[in-house]
Amino acid sequence: MTESHLRASALTFTDVPDPASGRGYRYLTDAVLTFREGRISALVSAEDFLQAGGDLARCEHFPGGLMLPGFIDAHVHAPQLGVMASYGRQLLDWLESYTFPEEARFADEAYAGQQMERFLQALLAHGTTAAMVFSTVHTHAADALFEAAARRNMCLIGGKVITDRNVPAVLSETLDEGLRATRDLIERWHGQGRLRYAVTPRFAITSTAAQLQLAGELLSARTDVYLQTHLSENLLEVQKTGLLFPEAKDYVDVYDRHGLCGPRSIFAHGIHLSERELDLLATRGCSVAFCPTSNLFLGSGLLDVARLRRHGVSMAVATDVGAGTSVSMLRTLAEGYKVLQLQGQSWHPLDALYSITLGNARVLQLDAHIGSLCPGKDADLVIVDPSRSSLLAGRLETCAGIDERLFAMIMLGDDRIIRRTYVAGVPVFDGPAPI
Ligand code: GUN
Ligand code: ZN
Repeated sequence: MTESHLRASALTFTDVPDPASGRGYRYLTDAVLTFREGRISALVSAEDFLQAGGDLARCEHFPGGLMLPGFIDAHVHAPQLGVMASYGRQLLDWLESYTFPEEARFADEAYAGQQMERFLQALLAHGTTAAMVFSTVHTHAADALFEAAARRNMCLIGGKVITDRNVPAVLSETLDEGLRATRDLIERWHGQGRLRYAVTPRFAITSTAAQLQLAGELLSARTDVYLQTHLSENLLEVQKTGLLFPEAKDYVDVYDRHGLCGPRSIFAHGIHLSERELDLLATRGCSVAFCPTSNLFLGSGLLDVARLRRHGVSMAVATDVGAGTSVSMLRTLAEGYKVLQLQGQSWHPLDALYSITLGNARVLQLDAHIGSLCPGKDADLVIVDPSRSSLLAGRLETCAGIDERLFAMIMLGDDRIIRRTYVAGVPVFDGPAPI
């Protein structure tokens, strides 16, 4: 049985962190993380490791490095790397002008396969080891995404988009086609290794009530399957949804009346929600994915995180690439901080890092397996090395304590500081070696 030992500082979470009392997290300035057969077996201080008879010479040492649980992206579009940074549109025009044409290219199996590989490599290079992912409408593209994730043994929740109206003909399918393909994909992939399936209506505008109804029936027959979609991102979208579903009380009701609101339902954005809608989301145990870079880029609005929390709606954090402008969860947190600042709110760096690790794992009901560096969990982790960015390295010299250091790392860090990424104990990405 091969055992690996990594030595660096380490930060991990056991609960929502309380910076004042020091509860909910563990920070070790000099730690040894041990894993075998893909699972973490210990995280101890280097001193305790020595005292227990461990040999520090057998550890791979990352001086100046920080071990963190692998980052988790709770909402991202695998086929949209090619539309990142597309100029000058808001949501509905952005979809028409850039996104639908790019997703149509995935009809070509070779292109789809190549892009899915590229997408997963990009996640790993940014320290993201798990994600909830939209594919396109094409079944072979979803297969390619799952195959690529399976080859890397990644923990991934994915789904083929279902849509039966208001998309270009090349992206449309019939009600039956979408449903049959979804059922087949669930059979093929859900629960295979570290893969899970999410039923994936794009958003209310692109599905008929009949399709949402069938999606809801599928979910009630398979309560372990997830639901991912978009909700109340843009004011024009909200208005159009109201016109398409005049019988619904509001946007959340469109999904709820078709059985799509439950504890495994993740709704991206949720910016323009009423009190009633927030209460209903909380009652149903649904989660909202906060996508700050996307919301700023498309001019969608500022998510009122404090309001969400007051209503007891759990929040995930996500890039929403390709409306999102970075694959990096660190950049996402930095923009999230600014979105909160614009509303007189704040985001403690410990809470922010909790959100992209254990917090997102909890929202996605994967916390039995991932989200922290705790014995028994899968060895998904990232080692960041702030010295890889000279600006950040310089700033860290003026930081007083760990909170300040983490905050600087969030605000100034990105993929340059990713030193190594591990998936289930296997190194899958290596940044440049130290100079
Ligand atoms: N709403 C419907 N589809 C999309 C999409 O691809 N990206 C975003 N940000 N919002 C959407
Ligand atoms: Zn999205």
